[in-house]
Amino acid sequence: MKVLVIGGGAREHALCRSLSLDPDVTALHCAPGNAGIAEVAELHQVDALDGAAVSALATGLGADLVVVGPEAPLVAGVADAVREAGIPVFGPSGQAARLEGSKAFAKDVMAGAGVPTARSYVCTTPEEVDAALAAFGAPYVVKDDGLAAGKGVVVTADVEAARAHAGACLGTGDAAREPGRVVIEEYLDGPEVSLFAVTDGETVRPLQPAQDFKRALDGDEGPNTGGMGAYSPLPWADPKLVDEVVQSVLQPTVDEMRRRGTPFSGLLYAGLAITGRGVRVIEFNARFGDPETQVVLARLRTPLAGLLLAAATGTLADLEPLRWSEDAAVTVVVASHNYPGTPRTGDPVTGLDEVAAQDAPHAYVLHAGTRQESDAVVSAGGRVLSVTATGADLAEARERAYRAVARIGLDGSQHRTDIAAKAAAEAAEG
Ligand code: AMP
Ligand code: GLY
Repeated sequence: MKVLVIGGGAREHALCRSLSLDPDVTALHCAPGNAGIAEVAELHQVDALDGAAVSALATGLGADLVVVGPEAPLVAGVADAVREAGIPVFGPSGQAARLEGSKAFAKDVMAGAGVPTARSYVCTTPEEVDAALAAFGAPYVVKDDGLAAGKGVVVTADVEAARAHAGACLGTGDAAREPGRVVIEEYLDGPEVSLFAVTDGETVRPLQPAQDFKRALDGDEGPNTGGMGAYSPLPWADPKLVDEVVQSVLQPTVDEMRRRGTPFSGLLYAGLAITGRGVRVIEFNARFGDPETQVVLARLRTPLAGLLLAAATGTLADLEPLRWSEDAAVTVVVASHNYPGTPRTGDPVTGLDEVAAQDAPHAYVLHAGTRQESDAVVSAGGRVLSVTATGADLAEARERAYRAVARIGLDGSQHRTDIAAKAAAEAAEG
């Protein structure tokens, strides 16, 4: 099978790594990729948002499967263009990707499907914003309606900060921007879980749950980011959680999308809060999560290409049960100076060979924002590396991941030191 992966972050490096280990994959291509992906796939330059260009590349390569990693090409309809060219594609249509592309649309689908989520108001004026903030009280949750790379959400006890973010989302005071919509919702208390499901629009196959660390700093302080680390499994979670979420969230959502005439195939990502009143959906995403994919795929034993192809061709019901490793996995994101603000790029990354020589196969470095500059790897984005490790339990996986992180040199870089720390300590206490 010849596979083309679209994207160039650590999620795509994790996808490419797993695909490269699948004996059915005879050729692996990635566009645009990054310096790490180049070690396992042939890279191509293409505008990932241009459906015609992506399908021309896939046709030219004779691809049997195209896997679209990030949300922006999906929302732009890139999967539709590839599907129209007659090539199986893992990723939803532009219409179906609105589950991620518009928080207001997702709320509407959840209401139709009876899926439990935070109560919310969609506001278009500052007056509506003030009324919604007053109705819910602190802490305030204010979300940009559109795509914002995980950074469009502000959760704050400060009503002025909530108002200011809502104003920015609405575009008030910014003549250059189209007036927008902002979603204000009830605060959900409780631990968060990321649960991914592979679906062909009808059958739903859940993957193992993971937990992401969204805040920039240790102790869940600082601003929201795209994600600073993740681990799987979740020793503290109810073993019935996955089945429960399939029944109450994932299957009803997939059924509702089909009923609306916009079936969702690809990866349905449910961001969940486990509240005292039960599971609630925080958000849906229409693609694999980053960095959760790094830990979920580290544990998946079923060959990846066959799984993704079955979703792309509507044959998931025929696939045998997924197989998982008993190991735990932890990933730690190494980010640039100033992330999630305007990150500094162009700094050399060192220590990659040392990790490969001393920590493999249990620990390895997945590249996020990197590029090759003559014989050096340099930073090229906010999140630069996702250092991933497996172990018999979370404590061992964590130890291995941080040992590898310590070998990496990147001027001004930052990472959290507490990824999976609490879960590992709790698991050790039994
Ligand atoms: P989202 O982009 O919707 O995933 O939101 C990013 C992060 O903001 C989530 O992972 C949560 O940590 C936080 N968040 C979003 N919505 C809520 C909510 N209703 N209550 C509490 N925290 C939230
Ligand atoms: N890790 C959060 C996301 O992928 O949206």
